[in-house]
Amino acid sequence: MSSAEHRSGAYAEAFSESIEHPERFWLKAAEAVDWVDAPTRALDDSAAPMYRWFPDARVNTCFNALDRHVAAGRGDQAALIHDSAMTGVTRTYTYAELLDQVSRFAGVLAAQGITAGDRVVVYMPMIPEAAIAMLACARIGAVHSVVFGGFAAAELAARIDDAEPTALITASGGLEPGRTIEYLPIVERALGLTDRAPATIVVKDRAQIPGSAADHDGWLDWDAAIADATPADCVPVAATDPLYILYTSGTTGKPKGVVRDNGGHAVALAWSMRNIYDIGAGQVMWTASDVGWVVGHSYIVYGPLLVGATTVMYEGKPVGTPDAGAFWRIVAQHGVRALFTAPTAIRAIRKEDPDAVELAKYDISTLTTLFAAGERLDPDTYEWASTKLGVPVIDHWWQTETGWAICANLRGLEPMPIKAGSPTVSVPGYLVQVVDAEGTEVEAGAEGNIVIRLPLPPGTLAGLWRDEQRYVKSYLSTFPGHYLTGDSGYIDADGYVFVLGRSDDVINVAGHRLSTGAMEAVVARHAAVAECAVVGIRDELKGQRPSGYVVLKAGADIDHEVLRTELVAMVRDQIGAVATFRDVTVVQALPKTRSGKILRKTMRQIADHEDYTVPSTIEDPAVLDALAKLLGPGA
Ligand code: COA
Ligand code: AMP
Repeated sequence: MSSAEHRSGAYAEAFSESIEHPERFWLKAAEAVDWVDAPTRALDDSAAPMYRWFPDARVNTCFNALDRHVAAGRGDQAALIHDSAMTGVTRTYTYAELLDQVSRFAGVLAAQGITAGDRVVVYMPMIPEAAIAMLACARIGAVHSVVFGGFAAAELAARIDDAEPTALITASGGLEPGRTIEYLPIVERALGLTDRAPATIVVKDRAQIPGSAADHDGWLDWDAAIADATPADCVPVAATDPLYILYTSGTTGKPKGVVRDNGGHAVALAWSMRNIYDIGAGQVMWTASDVGWVVGHSYIVYGPLLVGATTVMYEGKPVGTPDAGAFWRIVAQHGVRALFTAPTAIRAIRKEDPDAVELAKYDISTLTTLFAAGERLDPDTYEWASTKLGVPVIDHWWQTETGWAICANLRGLEPMPIKAGSPTVSVPGYLVQVVDAEGTEVEAGAEGNIVIRLPLPPGTLAGLWRDEQRYVKSYLSTFPGHYLTGDSGYIDADGYVFVLGRSDDVINVAGHRLSTGAMEAVVARHAAVAECAVVGIRDELKGQRPSGYVVLKAGADIDHEVLRTELVAMVRDQIGAVATFRDVTVVQALPKTRSGKILRKTMRQIADHEDYTVPSTIEDPAVLDALAKLLGPGA
């Protein structure tokens, strides 16, 4: 069952063209990009299942994001508006100013000997320099790898180990409500944990946070370096060369390095800006996410700039900085046309301001659409937001791996009726199917594994960084010829896709993707813990939250509250505050199958008070009974 079946109109036409004539479709879309050498062909499938897009083209992504707009007379238009609710300062960079800063920082990197293909880790809070560093890498063909500021030293070190960067760009720190996060001690710890420490370290000193490059031998100060820099020009790269690596959580503790190419990425994002978000040159888009996540890469930095739009970058929270009107203030102040955020942020606003009293204080008439992603937009939150805002509220579904939406309501191509709880239909380029455990497509309405028929469209992952085997094993081998999304759901008779949740051990906490395996690895290191399982249970505000179940070692004598405090501190210290690991339950045993596999799904169902069936392969049903008594209703 495909989304376009029995349909006519612009969407159906685009969808079938993209699936039946991908060459024609994507070569046409590629005209939105300024190439150094234009592509003569779209898809290279000679090494399938490793597909490559625009194999004979050469391009520079930064040129497309900045230089060409200045050359076209947009130099004085706002490119990036940085709005910090944490400092109260708003700063606007025109395209000409942003180009100047980016070429200077590219010059700083080049002067350090960094060239095309070298990796650069960016560990920064939501300040303009984060975007400048990313674009500067793109300018010289270096491959950036941004690490979310909420991750702790060990997570930063794991990414450095894998990416083997020649440079690390950081700042003295980030500002969270009520506290400052000093980055330099975290960077020092991370460098102590890796034997792949980069030769160059650049620090953007923020007045509000102690610590600077001057305290470290050989580290460069951002402001001084940029002031002295000779601007660097764009370096043409192959369309298939990597633009960035972005690490995301898999089911094991080891993060996956998703690799994005230059050419396919530019083509796909430019197409999505027009057809999904309905945003073009001169219009304002605000994506309230973080540059550390894929949403931030695609729609704070690259997407809006590739089409000459204005992007808003916000340092602050939806509530508490200073109140639940923060989002509406920004929309009004900067004339935002499209706002993109995570459902958890809307829930947070609703909780503080259920009657939208704050909203009434602002003129948000420029806003045409609210987009949501990162987790399912639950119907309740959808109803509240669309009633209060009076604009279409659009759920769309995607992943770090895909880099842009798999399913959406394509507002620029052909707006469709909204069904609450569904991200609408397959985006052109993605042939989404639902299959059973054997890989057979199921009937409309039946739940199963959501897969995408290969090849994936341009802009999606080219593979995992230096680990083709893991890429094939994780995504391509379960159902040959298809990409496994890891999500389960169904497609209804109208071709609307419903994404119900992950079918693996990845969880989604406040729109942040986290691995329960990584948390288990930390918990298991505690001296009193014999075994443990971490599962994602339902949370009213954050969608899910991690919940830990531990079996103590024989003879371990520890107060359960002390154990909980220690485990919470360990996870916070080794993964980061963003894990929000707070629940610990001591159990006698973990429910397992005879082959020793922990029944995490059943545990989650028990904790969420859902119906569950006792698998026939369970080793000891009494363990499940005990767990159900401990966690069940009325427990
Ligand atoms: N650097 C350092 N610490 C960070 C951080 C960062 N960039 N981001 C979050 N944290 C910390 C927070 O300070 C908090 O610490 P605490 O335990 O000491 O309070 C912890 O991580 C959890 O943060 P968060 O998940 O943001 O919870 P919150 O209770 O502070 O706020 C929301 C709740 C809903 C307001 C918030 O999660 C939110 O705005 N979510 C939207 C997420 C989003 O945009 N996701 C991107 C996907 S599109
Ligand atoms: P990330 O890679 O961090 O973007 O997380 C991707 C995962 O988040 C997906 O595999 C889904 O489980 C979930 N997700 C993201 N957007 C949606 C959505 N609109 N509806 C349902 N789940 C979503």
